[in-house]
Amino acid sequence: MTDWFDEHVPRHVRTLDVYQPGKPIEELERELGISGAIKVASNENPLGPSPKALEVLPAALSQLHLYPDAGGFALRRAIAAKLGLDLAQIALGNGSNDLLYQLVLATCEPTDEVLSHKYAFLSYRLAAQVAGRPFVAAPTTPELACDVDALIAAITPRTRLVVLGSPNNPTGSVVTKAGAERVLAALPPRALLVIDEAYAEYAAQYPEVDHVDGLALLRSDRRVIVLRTFSKIYGLAGIRIGYAAGDKAVLDVLGRVGRTFHVSSLAQIAAIAALDDDEHVAKSAAHARAQLERMRAEIKGPGVKVYPSLSNFVLIDCARPSTAVYEALLRRGVIVRPMAAWGLPGAIRVSVCRDSELPRVIQTINDVLAS
Ligand SMILES: Cc1ncc(COP(=O)(O)O)c(C=O)c1O
Repeated sequence: MTDWFDEHVPRHVRTLDVYQPGKPIEELERELGISGAIKVASNENPLGPSPKALEVLPAALSQLHLYPDAGGFALRRAIAAKLGLDLAQIALGNGSNDLLYQLVLATCEPTDEVLSHKYAFLSYRLAAQVAGRPFVAAPTTPELACDVDALIAAITPRTRLVVLGSPNNPTGSVVTKAGAERVLAALPPRALLVIDEAYAEYAAQYPEVDHVDGLALLRSDRRVIVLRTFSKIYGLAGIRIGYAAGDKAVLDVLGRVGRTFHVSSLAQIAAIAALDDDEHVAKSAAHARAQLERMRAEIKGPGVKVYPSLSNFVLIDCARPSTAVYEALLRRGVIVRPMAAWGLPGAIRVSVCRDSELPRVIQTINDVLAS
């Protein structure tokens, strides 16, 4: 098998990093022989799916024999109206990750570089590697945030896509308005700036913290593409739906590399309803903010640092190898995400949970960090 692999699989695929998603809670409980575990490992919305989305889904089931609307018109129209953009400035994806992969395929020649930073969301690297395009990771600030000067220094004439999460996963850090403008000013002629705003609705409740508004930036500069998702605050991670907002010429090319019918009818219908669910968004955002404040105030230990975050998770520097911390937490029924694969071997990432679960999550982490 190894010979076959070496002989037949292209080099850029042989050397691919494999994204390791968090295991389902049932699988871990079975493996460990435990029950009542709490999973805070995948940045999901613990308040559940948007109730408005749940309301419309049953009626859609009887239409499942029909193909979905490949153009996604109703949802794109709804998103465009909400954001004050044209229909042609919105593209749909099977999650926002899907759109990132499409962007790389649609815009990068084989030697064009995808640029981000060392602690950026892993998908940016993967999207480049899957397409066989070089990925360049600029150094970050000591606080693990995007270092705009270092990022600009890493730009070359071959840079085609600069991808920045704001807030970024797993650091929770944001790109400032001025920082994003400086990156734009430094882009080579053919390059685009992709701002991944998977957690935008959480970040919106921190007007006191300077962070880029991707949509405002794209209104002033055609080279900006904003990625958004229904997986986080709308609670629809399982149905897979996200969108890109940007220049219509760029988004039109995405349609050429994407698969037809890659966004299901249920996803489109759920997202249209969720888009109007201001109550769920407001509740989820306030809930996340309150929980992050408690985690930052109450999680403690020798040398331990909880990073600031404008999202629905925190990064914790455990000041020791975090795989052992992860395993100790697992045995106590708290499932976090160890960050070694992300280049942070001393850190874990902890997502928000139900309010009834938070005291146990904090206490268990503190117990393990104190031991
Ligand atoms: C920064 C960031 N971007 C994108 C995604 C993926 O979103 P989707 O589920 O829409 O593919 C995530 C999910 O964890 C994320 O953290």
